[in-house]
Amino acid sequence: MDERIERINRAAEYIRSRLGGRQPKVALILGSGLGPIADSIQDKIIIPYKDIPGFPVSTAVGHKGNFISGTYNGEQIFAMQGRFHYYEGYPMETVTIGVRVFKKLGIDFLFVFNAAGAANPDFEVGDMVMITDHINMMPNPLIGPNMEEFGPRFPDMTCAYDLELQKLALDCAGRLGLDVKKGVYFGSTGPTYETPAEVRFFRSVGADLLGMSTIPEVIVARHCGIRVFGMSAVTNVCNTTNTPVNFNDGHDVVNQAEKVVKGIHALLSEMIKHI
Ligand code: HPA
Repeated sequence: MDERIERINRAAEYIRSRLGGRQPKVALILGSGLGPIADSIQDKIIIPYKDIPGFPVSTAVGHKGNFISGTYNGEQIFAMQGRFHYYEGYPMETVTIGVRVFKKLGIDFLFVFNAAGAANPDFEVGDMVMITDHINMMPNPLIGPNMEEFGPRFPDMTCAYDLELQKLALDCAGRLGLDVKKGVYFGSTGPTYETPAEVRFFRSVGADLLGMSTIPEVIVARHCGIRVFGMSAVTNVCNTTNTPVNFNDGHDVVNQAEKVVKGIHALLSEMIKHI
């Protein structure tokens, strides 16, 4: 068998053996500073990534490294508390392993959360921005022999971010009185932040949010038919001029993202009840 698939199967089987028959349909991936959302999960089974065969460990700032099973507002879910990034040096197959493991475990819906910089001048630090589309400037995670059992060689990406989930999010936000903006996420490898010239360029081609994650997970999820909802927490407004800033190491991003946790928690609790 394809050794990539053997690795996914080994990880999924190990996790299944620890779950006592739980079978959620929804999974979350929590990025920089958003790990505390996992504090709201009840009846937790916590499996550190280091215990899962074939799983890497998260090395990024603010990424804990736990696979969690539990309930969120009464509904069964999985959560990855901490994700893997291409800039950490992992191949794309490793960056996205969690998504294919979710698929093997029966997940139908994936909620991806990240910290992002704002290229859109209308956005402010602390905004919650629903991702409506993306521009991928990282290597595509589906390069290589196609894993036929997961999906087709040339997956459609016209509605990568599920339209019904977007509508549900806006309905829920309206009921809760939460301000949710919409934007296109532009993903590059990092680990450098963008130069002002790059920010101006990316903005001019339609970027609202700049980040270094998420898109590989979304591509792999869409390849295998998982429906995706994405949301960014705006942690900084990107600089468009060459003026020195004293902001922008990973710790600042984590600190700012933590301020958005409450809003995301409220929205997610409401959405999960209506899926
Ligand atoms: N650029 C890229 N990634 C980021 C940023 C940014 O400004 N802020 C948080 N993640």
